[in-house]
Amino acid sequence: MISRRATPLTGEAHVPGDKSISHRSLILGALSVGETRVRGLLEGEDVLATAAAMRAFGAEVDRDGDEWVIHGVGVGGFAEPEDVIDCGNAGTGVRLIMGAMATTPIAATFTGDASLRSRPMGRITGPLAQFGAEAYGRKGGRLPLTILGAKTPIPVRYTLPIASAQVKSAVLFAGLNAPGETVVIEAEATRDHTERMLRAFGAKVAVEDGADGRVITLKGYPELSPQAIDVPRDPSSAAFPVCAALIVEGSDLLVPNIGLNPTRSGLFETLRDMGADLDFENQREEGGEPVADIRARFSPDMKGIEVPPDRAASMIDEYPILSVVASFAEGQTSMRGVKELRVKESDRIDAMAVGLRASGVDVNEGEDWWEIQGAGPGGVKGGASVAARLDHRIAMSFLCLGMAAREPVKVDDASPIQTSFPTFQTLMSGLGARLERSNR
Ligand code: S3P
Repeated sequence: MISRRATPLTGEAHVPGDKSISHRSLILGALSVGETRVRGLLEGEDVLATAAAMRAFGAEVDRDGDEWVIHGVGVGGFAEPEDVIDCGNAGTGVRLIMGAMATTPIAATFTGDASLRSRPMGRITGPLAQFGAEAYGRKGGRLPLTILGAKTPIPVRYTLPIASAQVKSAVLFAGLNAPGETVVIEAEATRDHTERMLRAFGAKVAVEDGADGRVITLKGYPELSPQAIDVPRDPSSAAFPVCAALIVEGSDLLVPNIGLNPTRSGLFETLRDMGADLDFENQREEGGEPVADIRARFSPDMKGIEVPPDRAASMIDEYPILSVVASFAEGQTSMRGVKELRVKESDRIDAMAVGLRASGVDVNEGEDWWEIQGAGPGGVKGGASVAARLDHRIAMSFLCLGMAAREPVKVDDASPIQTSFPTFQTLMSGLGARLERSNR
């Protein structure tokens, strides 16, 4: 796909439903007895793979008009799947599902695309082994991987060695079908959708601030009761039109109904620290999550900053698009404490650094940090041909860069965008972007 200099981005950007909440809605719906209805589910490939997986474990999952309906089988009610569970590109999907099945005495084999097959799973199978589950995978704990669920699960007290909501959620989901109390301790707060949603479904979840961080205690064997869920729109998807509006001259965009859970909204704080013209209108609460309409305007006076490392967890998926904005700011933006970026759908520091350098931007990097030398609002040459590396956020970030750079930017494969933001091309084109499929 080629992205040429855009006309001013104006109008309203209706981005899809939140990916994290969509996965969790399907899984928790499948673990409840009765009918869960979900509005605003993200119909991207990642979430559709989780829907298919829930069917394979015995739940009924169907689309009914603009709602999704799940008839769950209850905690401990998962059936053994007849075939391999293919989670496609979805790290969240596979890791949360492994947790959800690990304390039921069934076997399941998981796989995914080349990106997912290269990602570390030991971070999940390690704590699941403490419950009594066994995992047999490829070297380094890579997929394909088989889990034999624990026959007599033991509750676990687990301190997260890395800031990861996926690991936290896998442990909590496993704890549902274990006796007693499962405890997860996290030094840094990661997205808390699992805790909020478990409570909404009727589980007992206590959260306390302890000496070592947040202590989350779940009581085992709850009876989860089905819910009606309204999924807020995804702040991580909103990041793309918002950031594009900041760098495309003359833009003035409204991005309505965005989930602004504080464990997810670090990017917007950072953009404001840089001097971005951003407003949060109509702030309210919907379904237990804070929501607002975001207004973003062209911001030619943004300055590079040092992004506080303790903000990393709340904006972990947004560093690629932040690095694009930083390229159009004045001065240096430094991002530290971000080694997790190297094990996302791609090595995101490397993928961005290579493409930004090819676009005329100066980038320095180390194992867990990178720095962008901003070229100012008119200073980014563009003209690069970049590899998306099966990573939706890399593809969308470079297409946004092309909207404001002097020369068009080409992305070799835009198909990964289907995983999280299937309407990206139509939506952005409708606002003023010039995105075309290239004939290679
Ligand atoms: C997610 C957690 C994060 C994030 C991912 C979604 C979740 O991953 O990058 O896109 O829904 O729990 P980590 O847990 O690996 O940080």
